[in-house]
Amino acid sequence: MERIVEVEKFDFDSEDEVTLRPSTWDEYIGQEKIKKNLQVFIKAAQKREESLDHVLFFGPPGLGKTTLANIIATEMNANIKTTAAPMIEKSGDLAAILTNLDEGDILFIDEIHRLSPAIEEILYPAMEDFRLDIIIGSGPAAQTIKLDLPKFTLIGATTRAGMISAPLRDRFGMHFRLQFYSHDELAQIIRAAGTKLTFNCQKDASVETSRRSRGTPRIALRLLKRIRDYAQVENEEEISLHRAKYALDELGVDAQGFDEMDIRFLELLIQAKGRAMGLGTIAATLSEDEGTIEDVIEPYLIANGYVEKTSIGRVATPKTYELFRLTPPQDKPSLFDEESS
Ligand SMILES: Nc1ncnc2c1ncn2[C@@H]1O[C@H](COP(=O)(O)OP(=O)(O)O)[C@@H](O)[C@H]1O
Ligand SMILES: [Mg+2]
Repeated sequence: MERIVEVEKFDFDSEDEVTLRPSTWDEYIGQEKIKKNLQVFIKAAQKREESLDHVLFFGPPGLGKTTLANIIATEMNANIKTTAAPMIEKSGDLAAILTNLDEGDILFIDEIHRLSPAIEEILYPAMEDFRLDIIIGSGPAAQTIKLDLPKFTLIGATTRAGMISAPLRDRFGMHFRLQFYSHDELAQIIRAAGTKLTFNCQKDASVETSRRSRGTPRIALRLLKRIRDYAQVENEEEISLHRAKYALDELGVDAQGFDEMDIRFLELLIQAKGRAMGLGTIAATLSEDEGTIEDVIEPYLIANGYVEKTSIGRVATPKTYELFRLTPPQDKPSLFDEESS
């Protein structure tokens, strides 16, 4: 089933995404704290004429990690080479990437939590001392050759803060966790994208769309494009509130931006009557893989207070019962325990 509000966990940027992708700080809306910090660190590195310290971005898909990596490269006047952890299978793959870097280059590794331990080992001296240790041969005859690497900046992105190993995490000088966007920020992003697509989106239409975008620019932009299709079919020159609402309803995106999978997830938790439900059980019942539930579905529900993660599983919050016009179970307060991780 294709979810219109889904963001692929791993997508190489579509053409549209590249067109709409902000290339400057001014176009990058929201994430103000991250922006401010990065601007300072970039300026300082430039003053010292050094490369920027390694940067790690955490956060659910579609919030702007790849975009940030590209803006950093632009601001640093640096070349950026982009790859993703699943594409680095052998140590030779990484060695080839590293030895092809030039001084000041940026290496962007997406989904960095998926690097194998053996590959991580190679990355450590490369990050710390700009040195590549290559082992040639095996057994007692094995030899290590040390190669100097140019000073580069590694930018890592991951949807899973918890799955990145501590030694790797510690080698990044800067860590940034991206937040879901406010409706106001998303409405701005939608309107700016409308302008770029030369198809105006009226203000109230952008506000309506922003509310249904799960706090995620990639979803907002995808919805905008689908709404534009509906408007164009009706020979309309711009997107009105009426058309936006009509299209969103047709697309099956409800007033909270929840789709069928979100609703099934929440209903399942409600059926548990206040008892915490483990990730494995949820995944099996919904026929969805655990990773997708953890990375894509639940972060937004947790951030917005619909689901609580406790040490033993997930529980629906009173807000969820309210959404379904049900009364929360009263007699089991202990199940909303504080030990959330
Ligand atoms: N802060 C932002 N302001 C404007 N557009 C954004 C912002 N963040 C993301 N986008 C848009 O959303 C799309 C997805 O962002 P991306 O950087 O690919 O997300 P991630 O790498 O975190 O999955 C981008 O193409 C870009 O157009
Ligand atoms: Mg990305």
